[in-house]
Amino acid sequence: MSFNPLKEKGLPLEKQLRTWHDIAHRKYNKNEVNCYTRTRQILMNGIEVEAWNFKHNFSRLCQHEDTMKFLAQTKRIEDAQQSTINWLAPSDQSVLETTLGYEQVAVDLTAWMAQNEPDEYVKETFDFGLLEDFDHLYRYSQWAYMMHGISPNDIVQEQTDVILGRPTQNHHNCNIIRLRKPYDKSTASPQTKVNILTLVSGEQQTHNYYGEHGFAYGNETLRETYAEIKDVEEEHVTMYESLIDPSESFYEKLLLHEFMEVCTYHNCMTDEEDELLMPVWEEFLAFELDHLHTAAELFKKYEKRDPEEVIGEEIIHPCHFTNQKDYVTKVLHKEIDKRLGTDKDYLYTDELPDDWSSYKIQEKAGKDGSPSEVTIRVIKEEKGRDLVCASDDLKSKLPELAKKSVQKKGMTKDTVTPEEYEKMSKEEFIL
Ligand SMILES: [Fe+2]
Ligand SMILES: [Fe+2]
Ligand SMILES: [Fe+2]
Ligand SMILES: [Fe+2]
Repeated sequence: MSFNPLKEKGLPLEKQLRTWHDIAHRKYNKNEVNCYTRTRQILMNGIEVEAWNFKHNFSRLCQHEDTMKFLAQTKRIEDAQQSTINWLAPSDQSVLETTLGYEQVAVDLTAWMAQNEPDEYVKETFDFGLLEDFDHLYRYSQWAYMMHGISPNDIVQEQTDVILGRPTQNHHNCNIIRLRKPYDKSTASPQTKVNILTLVSGEQQTHNYYGEHGFAYGNETLRETYAEIKDVEEEHVTMYESLIDPSESFYEKLLLHEFMEVCTYHNCMTDEEDELLMPVWEEFLAFELDHLHTAAELFKKYEKRDPEEVIGEEIIHPCHFTNQKDYVTKVLHKEIDKRLGTDKDYLYTDELPDDWSSYKIQEKAGKDGSPSEVTIRVIKEEKGRDLVCASDDLKSKLPELAKKSVQKKGMTKDTVTPEEYEKMSKEEFIL
């Protein structure tokens, strides 16, 4: 890949203003779209939300007139890009269908990044988070069936497994121990920086989506499930953003944001086969190259450093979506019983001290039960078992996985026990 974003030509800013029709008219067909076209659309919406939001934060404390003008002009452009991308989703795609798309993004994106992450500690953090979103996909899939009668494969198209992960009730931590060790900006590779920023954007938008849509259903347990998982996404944003070196300046962050946008659009353009979306990625890549060039000039002017020191000279592909079942299965077997340590490290359930700080949170938040556990009880009541889409081999490991995931403390009164999983796994789920 010989593509140096600092040297490639972009589209001048004055040509980036678009009509309302151009901004809003495109939408895909939910029954025909490839699942990875949908994941790209979901992720890029999150990237644009972050781009817009970051620029507002920068504007509120920026004292340089030329930078203020650049931010003012491009905030509008980022915002219109966000509308175009988010509104590619058709109006007949339900909240739960979209939700399965969000969790498929999280699983397959994090798995891809973990395998392309040069920093071992960052990789370990990606693997850790991966198993939590994997479990969210499993919980929401039960609801997509119960509310809309659909199979999760209607959305994930057999590219991502749907089965128990690290149980959602065990994702609730003391937010202080979610904080991880930040990379060192002077030695971290551009790949690490772009990976993390891309993932933070995705997780943040997942959190926002659940916050904006979790009330869309009248079912009380489903509302509570959205509330429970939204809170985990909040923890994910806290966890992933804490990997970023806090001493990066705003100009450095601006440079990285535009670089991330260039990289993700370039990645989408390279992978896309859908004729509706391809021109969107191409056009927006041209926009972002121009944003990046101005951000690089501002960085040189105010930081008196070369942008290459931060972003290198090559494009990076942080978001290649592809089937990650083998990788996820491997991590699942190895790490379903992994938990956060209080020293920014990781522990297994049998190593957790009795005074582990997350127990207090789990006991308090789960005092009335855990909606994500009740979810499985509800579907078991209706169908005799949970809805699982995985290979026979992985399905046969379900009781063993359930057993391994159990902690000493902090389990709610409605926890589905390993014995119940064992029993359920003998039943057949008829769609
Ligand atoms: Fe943008
Ligand atoms: Fe999630
Ligand atoms: Fe997440
Ligand atoms: Fe941008």
